[in-house]
Formats: sequence, C-alpha cells, structure tokens
Amino acid sequence: MAVLITGGAGYIGSHTCISLMESGYDVVVIDNLDNSSAEAIRRVEAIVGKPVKFYQEDVRDKSALCKIFTENRIEAVIHFAGLKAVGESAKIPITYYDNNLISTLYLIEVMQQFGVKRLVFSSSATVYGLSKTMPLTEDMPLGAINPYGRTKYFIEEILRDLYASEPDWSIALLRYFNPIGAHESGTIGEDPRGIPNNLMPYIAQVAVGRLPHLNVFGNDYDTVDGTGVRDYIHVVDLAEGHVKAVDWALCHQGCEPFNLGTGKGCSVLQLKDAFEAASGVKIPYVITPRRPGDPDTVYANAEKAKNILGWEAKRDIKQMCEDTWRWQKNNPNGYETK
Ligand code: NAD
Ligand code: UD1
Repeated sequence: MAVLITGGAGYIGSHTCISLMESGYDVVVIDNLDNSSAEAIRRVEAIVGKPVKFYQEDVRDKSALCKIFTENRIEAVIHFAGLKAVGESAKIPITYYDNNLISTLYLIEVMQQFGVKRLVFSSSATVYGLSKTMPLTEDMPLGAINPYGRTKYFIEEILRDLYASEPDWSIALLRYFNPIGAHESGTIGEDPRGIPNNLMPYIAQVAVGRLPHLNVFGNDYDTVDGTGVRDYIHVVDLAEGHVKAVDWALCHQGCEPFNLGTGKGCSVLQLKDAFEAASGVKIPYVITPRRPGDPDTVYANAEKAKNILGWEAKRDIKQMCEDTWRWQKNNPNGYETK
C-alpha cells in the first residue's frame, strides 16, 4: 500500500516524501516538473536509500491518473500539485483556476472510481484573507483576496461539499503558514524559478551573491520593528505534519482544517538578523514601499493540530536559517548546480 503524492518533486512534496518513507510508508509521485526538477527525486532517493516510483505526468491527465491507480495500491493521497505565486495569479488567473481546480476535480473523480477516500490537501493560511484577529484559529471566517488564495478557498469548499455528500471520506485541509528551511542534509531545498517572491529564498540568494540586496517591503507596520511579522515554519516540521495527517486520515472520517504553524511571529528584520547569525554573511537591505495586500502580522494558533493530530513544530528560527543556508551554500544555483 502506498501514498500517492501529487507535486512530490516540489519543495514541500520532496521533504514530505522523505518523512513518509522514514515513517514506513511507500510513496508514488506524480509531478509534471512545471516548477521542479527530477533531480529532487533522485536526491530524495539518495537520502532515504530507497527508490521512489515517479510518474512525470500532469494531474489534469485523467488517463495518467487512472494508470497510476491501476499500477499501484494507493491507500491515501497528498495533493500538493498546483501553482502558488500570488502575484502571477493576478496576471494569469485562468491558468491558476485551470491548474489548481481541474487537477483537484480530476483527482477526486479518479479516487472515487478506485474507492480511495483518504485525502490530505495543501491549503494555505491565505484562506483567512486579511483577518485582523491573531492568532488565527480554524473556525475563523474565510475570505481569500487574490486568485491563488481563491483557488485554495474554492478547493476547500469543494472538499467540504464532497464530504457532506459522501461521509465515508477522510479529508485533512492543511493550512500552512510560511514554510522555510531545508532538509538537514543540505541536498534538497527550495529552488524557485526566476527572482524569488518570498522572503527567505530572497535572503538566501542575496547571501550567495545572486541578488544584490534585500528589499524590505515597508517599515511602518504596527509591529515590533515596523516590518511585517509572519509565522515561519521549518519545512521538515511541515512534512512531519503531513505524516500525522495521513495517519489520522487512515483511521478517521471527516473533513477537517488544521493550521500548521509554530504559533510564533517573526519580523522581516528579525529573520534577516537570524540568517546573518546562522550564515556569518551580511545581508544588505533597503527599505522600499509596502507590497500591496500584505498584512502587518499573521500567525497561527496550532493547538488543533497538536490536540487531534498529535503534531507540533519543533524546530526554531535558528535551525530554519542554518538549514536554508546549508542548502543554498551547497547549491548556489539550486538543482541546476549539478
Ligand atoms: P512547488 O511549486 O515547489 O511544488 C508544487 C509541485 O507541483 C511542483 O513540483 C510542480 O511541478 C507540480 N505541479 C504543479 N501543477 C501540476 C500539475 N497540474 N500536475 C502535476 N504536477 C504539478 O510548491 P510548494 O512550495 O512545494 O507547495 C506545494 C503546495 O503547497 C502547493 O499547492 C502550494 O500552493 C501549497 N502551499 C505552499 C506554500 C509555500 O509557501 N510554499 C504555502 C501555502 C501553501
Ligand atoms: C506569501 C503569499 C501567501 C502565501 C505565502 C506562502 C503574498 C502577498 N502572500 O505570504 O499568499 O501563502 O507567501 O509562503 O505573496 N518581504 C519583504 N521582502 C521580500 C519578500 C517579502 O520584505 O523580498 C516581506 C513581506 O512583506 C512579508 C514577509 O516578508 O511581510 C513575508 O513575505 P513572503 O515570504 O512573501 O510571505 P507572505 O507574504 O506571508
């Protein structure tokens, strides 16, 4: 019996393959490599010392999905595959709706066809929109504010409707906060295409000289030092959260959202300082205007995941920075290096 991982060559998916295999699960990966590299799969195999069954296919290809379910005994699915850049989603919204929604609908239909009803879905804290009340709890109102966020919100709604109509499903909606860090081996990590949109990969690329300086988007927020505060979570903690979610899905029925965060906020300048301390590299920065749509503070209440899944984040900001730096230093150009 195996867990099918859509998007398993990507940043969070590749780390989750390792955590699952180390916990005794077999994994099967489908990824079209639209935003990733087959090298990530090879490195996962090297870390775990076992082969990964990999299909380079698009989740929107139903016949490819059926082939995978026919050739493998899939007992549960983790659905990471999707497009994820907020800014890009406003420029090409239909591409985002097409990829994220159609892939999910086809996946559900094929799961129904093969009687597999255990699903863990990659949602995001972005589904809370611009909530002012912190920390965020799962029962707070939802309201996405951009096309990417709406794909996550719509998929959550589709999955709630599915569960309401077929209560023998088990669906975990994992709302990630800000994943950063890398596997401690330094061989897999985040490898964004083009100029990074997110803070940590941007800092890491400044550190290796690929970018000249960090732009700090605003220092007039109502926060400890005026810069934006987020709940950064180590990607390996996040991966371990997926193992717990699969464990839960295999022995419960329901459709439940879970926040996966640390419950702690860290500002842009605090993260920059922590990275400098971990790497010994100075990160030059300039203060620029706010990025439109950025809230001042976002952090999770992660008690539900602790109480129901038995999961909590263990790794601190220092380790997140050290592990990011090891990955970036060893692979200054990401997976292209080798
Ligand atoms: P990623 O881009 O590294 O991984 C996604 C993977 O899915 C990539 O390998 C890509 O090639 C693949 N993919 C995309 N569309 C596909 C399709 N139609 N068929 C097959 N493969 C396809 O992103 P990630 O950071 O690992 O994120 C994984 C999931 O988590 C995404 O759904 C993302 O929206 C969600 N998420 C990510 C973050 C974050 O900050 N990284 C935060 C919240 C939620
Ligand atoms: C962003 C997405 C969010 C998504 C999340 C995934 C936006 C508006 N939001 O969240 O939907 O779920 O990524 O990780 O894109 N910052 C800088 N300089 C930079 C980059 C970022 O100062 O070059 C600041 C931002 O203003 C913010 C913080 O760093 O205060 C974190 O930004 P980022 O890493 O992009 O994550 P989010 O905006 O929280």
